[in-house]
Amino acid sequence: MNAKIIGTGWQLPAYEADNDYLATIVETSDEWIRERTGIGKRHLVREETTTSLAAGAAKKALENSGLRAEEIDLVMVATITSDTDTPSTACRVQGELGALNAVAFDINAACAGFLYGLHIADAFIRSGIYRNVLLIGAETLSKLLDWTDRSTCVLFGDGAGAAVLTASEKGGLIARTVGSNGGKWEVLSCMGRPNQNPVCKSSASAGYLRMDGQEVFKFAVKTVPACIEKTLQDAKLSAEEITYYLLHQANKRIIQSVAKRLKQSEEKFPMNIEQCANTSAASLPILLAQMNEQGRLHPGDKLVLSGFGAGLTWGACILEW
Ligand code: UT7
Repeated sequence: MNAKIIGTGWQLPAYEADNDYLATIVETSDEWIRERTGIGKRHLVREETTTSLAAGAAKKALENSGLRAEEIDLVMVATITSDTDTPSTACRVQGELGALNAVAFDINAACAGFLYGLHIADAFIRSGIYRNVLLIGAETLSKLLDWTDRSTCVLFGDGAGAAVLTASEKGGLIARTVGSNGGKWEVLSCMGRPNQNPVCKSSASAGYLRMDGQEVFKFAVKTVPACIEKTLQDAKLSAEEITYYLLHQANKRIIQSVAKRLKQSEEKFPMNIEQCANTSAASLPILLAQMNEQGRLHPGDKLVLSGFGAGLTWGACILEW
């Protein structure tokens, strides 16, 4: 049995902050941000939380799938911005949906989180352990950002996307590759709460997201095409046979570089980075759900999904829609 996506949903916070607004906070400009990244604006939470965005996207995905919440066996939320250290966002979403026959847990793999989630869902469905899986990518990255650091605060946005997967004899996930390199963890990181136990007396303060942008850029333009090429080989497909390549929306220039490397037209690489910026684990499921809503996905289409991020982590998969 293959893992097949039968429903998708997305939710963004109501508030939109454009590049001109950010230029009133840090020394930057619409021109710099657009030219270097392709980002025009981002959605930022005010009332919303990671949990509320995740639950909103999940409700739409469930409705789109035709399944009831009680029919879900597994709820996974890919996130690095859970509202609570414990319980997981997945448990809170499970409670809100009433998906009480499911097991629920979070996945921490940064911007590759949704890819890792697909990998896990595929393994559980293939093995016959679970049949129906709700996979969500949800982030409020804005709370991890140092809003005085122009090199990071302009890049990210908040949001959530979700997919319902079920066991299917045909189509669905046909090949996957995932990887990690913990040797490079410092390239992109966010330190957690310092330990205040009486014998440790840490003087550190809670961290903000720190990134060596150029290192991450180099890693992405090298690893993503290699990972996609390997996945295509595993599926015995050529790059031409792929209808769309959905890449993590981190930087328009990274996406263009991957298209060039794979010798494919940029039209095959849909983007929403202009409107959403980088929403980490939420970026792929938001893009997928928006394309589905727009009627751009048709039965038999072959899609590549690929993500990369902190860890370092990366992954790619091929889905037959
Ligand atoms: O999902 C997680 C994965 N993350 C990524 O994929 C990010 C990958 N990296 C990137 O996308 C790019 O490296 C960035 C967009 C982060 C930066 O672009 P860049 O072309 O590598 O710029 P840079 O870091 O080399 O900076 C160039 C200049 C610097 O000024 P000087 O030293 O040349 O005077 C920066 O200080 O641009 C300056 N700069 C800015 N200027 C205006 C950096 N940030 C800004 C800013 N506005 N927001």
